[in-house]
Amino acid sequence: MKWTSSFIFTSKEPPSDAETISQKLMHQSGMIDKLVSGIYSFLPLGLRVLKKVSNIIREEMDNAGAQEILMPSLQPASLWKESERFGKMGKDMIVFKDRHNREMLLGPTHEEVVSDIVRKYVKSWKNLPLMFYQIQTKYRDEIRPRFGIIRSREFLMKDCYSFDRSDNEAENSYFLMRQAYEKIFKRCGLNTSVHTADSGVIGGKFSEEFIASGDCAELEIGHIFKLGTDYSEKLHVYFMDRDGIEKPAVMGCYGIGVSRVIAAIIEGNYDNHGIIWPISVAPFLCTIVPVNMSNSTTIETANIIYEDLISSGIEVLYDDRDESAGVKFADADLLGIPYRITLGRKLAERKVEITERKTGKSTDIEIDKVKTFLIDNFRKLL
Ligand SMILES: Nc1ncnc2c1ncn2[C@@H]1O[C@H](COP(=O)(O)OP(=O)(O)O)[C@@H](O)[C@H]1O
Ligand SMILES: [Mg+2]
Repeated sequence: MKWTSSFIFTSKEPPSDAETISQKLMHQSGMIDKLVSGIYSFLPLGLRVLKKVSNIIREEMDNAGAQEILMPSLQPASLWKESERFGKMGKDMIVFKDRHNREMLLGPTHEEVVSDIVRKYVKSWKNLPLMFYQIQTKYRDEIRPRFGIIRSREFLMKDCYSFDRSDNEAENSYFLMRQAYEKIFKRCGLNTSVHTADSGVIGGKFSEEFIASGDCAELEIGHIFKLGTDYSEKLHVYFMDRDGIEKPAVMGCYGIGVSRVIAAIIEGNYDNHGIIWPISVAPFLCTIVPVNMSNSTTIETANIIYEDLISSGIEVLYDDRDESAGVKFADADLLGIPYRITLGRKLAERKVEITERKTGKSTDIEIDKVKTFLIDNFRKLL
């Protein structure tokens, strides 16, 4: 991607309402745009990171044996009356009437909808165990949206639901998810600790929260619940067991705030100059910075390196703006791109300078060895 044909607008000043470092840096690097309080757009740079985090989550959910589905945001209130949860979320739940005067809501979570699917199809012990997940937008009209995308009113969540035949099997599903969560957060470059938690309106028998280390007071990024049979009894998710007795499925539910994870990664990976993305979620792996845009040899070499990296599938941002080196360096640091390839004075020796964002360490590399140098380093860091 060339900077001049991309939509990246950086700014020196953080927004006036910014309370956390992630909120400041996401605005300043042009990752997100605030529409109104607690409601954000992801701009191209932010969406690149969102997709990477989502894909890590997808891979680990698939590995754990969960199947991806996509449930609707619009839900009938009648289903929430069946589970006896309607009204329990208070004003956090966005409720309205459709044109036929039926009460509807924008889903803050999906236990009811997933149970409705399972009860229609699962009849026998042979159809279980079952795990469904989705990556989908949730709506919660938070009383105090704050910290940018950390506590917002519309956000992306990965929610997963397990249905088992017995407490023992449900225990196993819970353990598989707990393990998957540990892998996901590690791959995202997050340090997390697990704590027994209050289950709140979701309810159930037991729950644990994954808390990311970092400076923000709001750090919970994942929450896993052993639900037992409360939902399945109320919503009639029953199956015929091997012994001929009809039993309620034993449920679990598991949430990750996908957008919040991005903020948490920044809270744990930044310095005075900007974000320091872990390779696994970086919007671009490297950036090419020609110091002098009016020198034809510099531009020719930059183009050759750019094409070479692209043809090898390396995500590269080519800063082809006619700006000073200082501005470009500052923006590369702000955006947090793991490697900066600088085309400067060393070009006379057919060399470029490669600087690692995290350590600030620079190495002079011959032009035709740039690709192998980067690939070797990505491998070490992934
Ligand atoms: N308002 C929000 N904005 C962004 N992410 C949220 C928000 N509320 C919850 N999340 C994320 O979704 C995950 C699952 O939600 P849940 O445990 O039901 O939320 P809570 O504990 O806030 O009621 C949380 O661990 C968190 O990462
Ligand atoms: Mg929670």
